Amino acid sequence: LRDTYLGRIAEARDEGELETLRVEAVGKKGEVSLKMRELGKMSPEERQVMGPKLNALKDEINAALAAKKEALADAALDERLRTEWLDVTLPSRPRRTGTIHPISQVTEEVTAIFADMGFAVAEGPQIDTDWYNFDALNIPSHHPARAEMDTFYMHRAEGDNRPPHVLRTHTSPVQIRHMEKFGAPCRIIAPGRVYRADYDQTHTPMFHQVEGLALDKDISMANLKWVLEAFFAAFFEVDGIKTRFRASHFPFTEPSAEVDIQCSWEGGQLKIGEGDGWLEVLGSGMVHPKVLEAGGVDPNAWQGFAFGMGIDRIAMLKYGIPDLRAFFDSDLRWLRHYGFSA
Ligand code: PHE
Repeated sequence: LRDTYLGRIAEARDEGELETLRVEAVGKKGEVSLKMRELGKMSPEERQVMGPKLNALKDEINAALAAKKEALADAALDERLRTEWLDVTLPSRPRRTGTIHPISQVTEEVTAIFADMGFAVAEGPQIDTDWYNFDALNIPSHHPARAEMDTFYMHRAEGDNRPPHVLRTHTSPVQIRHMEKFGAPCRIIAPGRVYRADYDQTHTPMFHQVEGLALDKDISMANLKWVLEAFFAAFFEVDGIKTRFRASHFPFTEPSAEVDIQCSWEGGQLKIGEGDGWLEVLGSGMVHPKVLEAGGVDPNAWQGFAFGMGIDRIAMLKYGIPDLRAFFDSDLRWLRHYGFSA
């Protein structure tokens, strides 16, 4: 009996097995306990021999159980120490963090600069009615500007008589929406996505513009020029950058001007804000009275300027990005190179 139990205790693999053994041997109905109960039926001589023997056996088994239990706990601790150690001197695994897309970055830069000059941000829908995108901006349906814009029209099922919708071809409809809601005076910019069916190295079917609109009693082209030059100086970080206003035509402004910024090409290197070259960056002008009227603003009481600038274009210029299409390819290697850390 002694050898069987001591042998089995030595071989036990965990505390569960030990407990089973304890119950089998020295538990209330265990083999040793039963033997002890038989002592009563023995003769006094037998009892005197067997009594101490059984007691000693019980003690021995209990001691073996306790010793084995401790040994198992030690082994478990050793195993944990062996497998769960941590080398704090190892370099950490590189973590891939996202970057801010150059277009988002530039939009934020533009917004911050105009905010300093008191311009709030306005927004409008990317799917708009052709009234907001064209008619209200003094571009009636037969006007050649509609054809030039390569407009995406939303398909209408037969019998659907809602007004025609387009993907806005510019941010100018936001002028009308803002005037309708808030009237004059106002000073806003409206950055956002615009769409035209066009695709090459400098054109993508979706691109970004930022509209500007300032209305008050006596706003003039001189204010427009000052605001734009202050903007370009801050954006390209060149003091005293020059702009060139070229007479142009937009149905929604009169007079209209296309605006170029000063640049140079030295050894194929484009430098903004120096030299005697020019780069076109935006369209602008004094808001046409018909546009004010369409927005519910009295053209006899108010006047102001508007401009529309290509965000992608000025982003390319500021950060030396050669192909517009790369902005929208979602190539992670490109984004890691040109993106801004968060
Ligand atoms: N909407 C014009 C365009 O997309 C730009 C513009 C805006 C011109 C406001 C004048 C005034 O080309």
